[in-house]
Amino acid sequence: MIERIGLMNGWLFSPEWQDGMERRAEGHSFVPVSLPHAATELPLNYFDERSYQKVSCYRTTLPAFSLSGGRRAILRFEGVMAAATVWVNGRLLGEHKGGYTPFEFDATDRCRGDGSDELTVRADARERPDVPPFGGQIDYLTYSGIYREVYLDLSAPLRIRNVRAECASPLAAEKSLTLRVFAANAGGAARGTAEASLLDPSGRVVASVSAPVTVSAGESEFSLELTRLGGLFLWSPDSPTLYTAVCSLKGDCPGEPADTFTFRYGFRTAEFRPDGFYLNGERLKIVGLNRHQAWPYVGYAMPARSQRRDADILKYELRVNLARTSHYPQSPRFLDRCDEIGLLVFEEIPGWQHIGDDDWKALATENVREMVERDWNRPSVVLWGVRINESQDDDAFYARNNALAHCLDRSRQTGGVRYLERSRLLEDVYTMNDFSLDGGAVALRSQRAVTGLDHDVPYLVTEYNGHMYPTKKTDSEERQIEHVIRHLRVQDASFGDPLIAGAVGWCAFDYNTHKDFGSGDRICHHGVMDIFRIPKFASYVYASQTPPSRGVVLKPVTRWARGERSVGGILPLVVLTNCDSIGITFGANEEIRITERGGEYPNLPYPPFVVDSRHIPPEKVGAWGMVWEDGLITGYVGGEAAAVARFAGNPVGETLAAVADDRELAAGAKDATRVVVSVNDQAGNPLPYGDAVVSATIEGPARILGPSTFALIGGSRAFWVESSGTPGSVRVAVTAEGLDTRILEIDVR
Ligand code: GAL
Repeated sequence: MIERIGLMNGWLFSPEWQDGMERRAEGHSFVPVSLPHAATELPLNYFDERSYQKVSCYRTTLPAFSLSGGRRAILRFEGVMAAATVWVNGRLLGEHKGGYTPFEFDATDRCRGDGSDELTVRADARERPDVPPFGGQIDYLTYSGIYREVYLDLSAPLRIRNVRAECASPLAAEKSLTLRVFAANAGGAARGTAEASLLDPSGRVVASVSAPVTVSAGESEFSLELTRLGGLFLWSPDSPTLYTAVCSLKGDCPGEPADTFTFRYGFRTAEFRPDGFYLNGERLKIVGLNRHQAWPYVGYAMPARSQRRDADILKYELRVNLARTSHYPQSPRFLDRCDEIGLLVFEEIPGWQHIGDDDWKALATENVREMVERDWNRPSVVLWGVRINESQDDDAFYARNNALAHCLDRSRQTGGVRYLERSRLLEDVYTMNDFSLDGGAVALRSQRAVTGLDHDVPYLVTEYNGHMYPTKKTDSEERQIEHVIRHLRVQDASFGDPLIAGAVGWCAFDYNTHKDFGSGDRICHHGVMDIFRIPKFASYVYASQTPPSRGVVLKPVTRWARGERSVGGILPLVVLTNCDSIGITFGANEEIRITERGGEYPNLPYPPFVVDSRHIPPEKVGAWGMVWEDGLITGYVGGEAAAVARFAGNPVGETLAAVADDRELAAGAKDATRVVVSVNDQAGNPLPYGDAVVSATIEGPARILGPSTFALIGGSRAFWVESSGTPGSVRVAVTAEGLDTRILEIDVR
């Protein structure tokens, strides 16, 4: 493109579509909105999901732009739920079915470019059975509205639609990069010059190439080759080096503008083999979690910062190495961050168990194309999911999807998530949801027991736990422990079996769902974090499996209360940690050191400590009937105290805490940050069953998403502050009766 104009601000919205809205706004009532936008905002829980399944209208006036020199005006939508019809100046551009993939319309012939062009979008959020994933039941909500970015891309008459980069031997000292350029030419065949450069992270050009090309009318392709690339760094989770490729195309006619296409690229190999997953030739056990791209109240419609933050939570808080984008292509902003921080991604097409008719299947195959063409240059994406999650075998359909993914992208393997044993393996990797762990002896089955094959194949466990053990943050300590143990057991089984490439748990965050799933409250409490991304105990299973050099983890799985469990006391006590030893001090007693880890998880990098009466006589941690005391648990690394967990023996709500993820938001468009609120005891721990009522008030160019007065859930809760794009100071006051008010200042600039 020559120029990209963001169309995030200045929209008019009507929650109800009426015929004729594409021709005139007058006579209908609209409210001003900006993107990303949820057509219907929802309560946290216990709502009727049909309330958002409506058809709504968005209108905006395009800014003035020049069409001189044969420029083209392309409208690009990153995602509209769930089907979109688009008009400019009352004339139809087309319809796109599917809410998770981008689409573009060439609007040149409909536009005047004088600042008066009217763009209208009919956004259909109904669960139309003709559009994947709909037609059956699905365990998640799909929400509504223009919930991702919209752009007006001005491009040259010879336009670069897309570029696919391919490096045949990323591990070679001297590499070459083939750039397959996909061009669009609205005129007759033309001659021009194509150029490409590769820039290192500091912006220095490391290689460039230029070649004369002939671009035929309509759509066509050609290749450029960057050769003799030496001294480049590989992309990996520990060192995610990104290069930037800039391609340009300029027609020979005098005065014709050049079109450019810029993207980031990382050199790496990623291969699932029968004996595991190999990144850059080295075996890496995959430890992952599934992610839904949903938040309370606004569903999918969260700005870039929140999308990126989810990737950060997965990488730095949960410290997993892979996210599965269950069950659809997720926001490019999330994937941008995965590329930047080295979080691997398994991306899949939209769908959940149901397969529709031939037209439906054709759309699902089109989803494969849209997903692969959108994300084929991202180093984070290591596997394409080309099946409908957990559907039945359908060889003709899935052979077609698989062939298409391979033909579009020869560099990546394919999978397709099933729960079926002996399902026909048409893809490269048998990707299996293994929910065998029901509390009994089996944590994961062997791959041959699942595939029924007489030989080993690349094999990845893509879900476990989830509905087998839903756990709320407020559930009792005994349930929390079992939740922790189940995550530990599956990971231990995965680490113990070299024929399993890794295991990706269900799931990172609790999510809103249909009435047919979850706990009746429209929430699946399946996350290791709650819907606000506040950790449950099980979340520490993951971080504790990484070395202390990435941060010391010490999480005793206890509420530290004498009478919380079904028998008095806190033993056996599971301590999730990457420390070498731990010490426990009860009241004024002497510290008891424990150096031996629990033996039940021999394959984990850092099995937990499991402290029981063999280590501590019950009278040392206070038997039933004795006085309950404060607790101090210390984690030691190399003999030095590296972390402490303190517990109050007589917890009372002492402080109100309100912590914002960001103190600065970007002006210009919607932005948002999370504020986590808790009522803490004397040791600084949120009261596990605290339900204080909290109010938040806001001044400045921002609003609070969801209610501004709410009860804490298990001692904590979060809300989001959404800025409007207008610069200024935002002041948030958080109050709870009897506790000091907290004031947060957030700068929008
Ligand atoms: C799986 C499904 C997920 C989720 C999960 C709950 O069967 O693929 O979307 O519903 O169960 O455990």
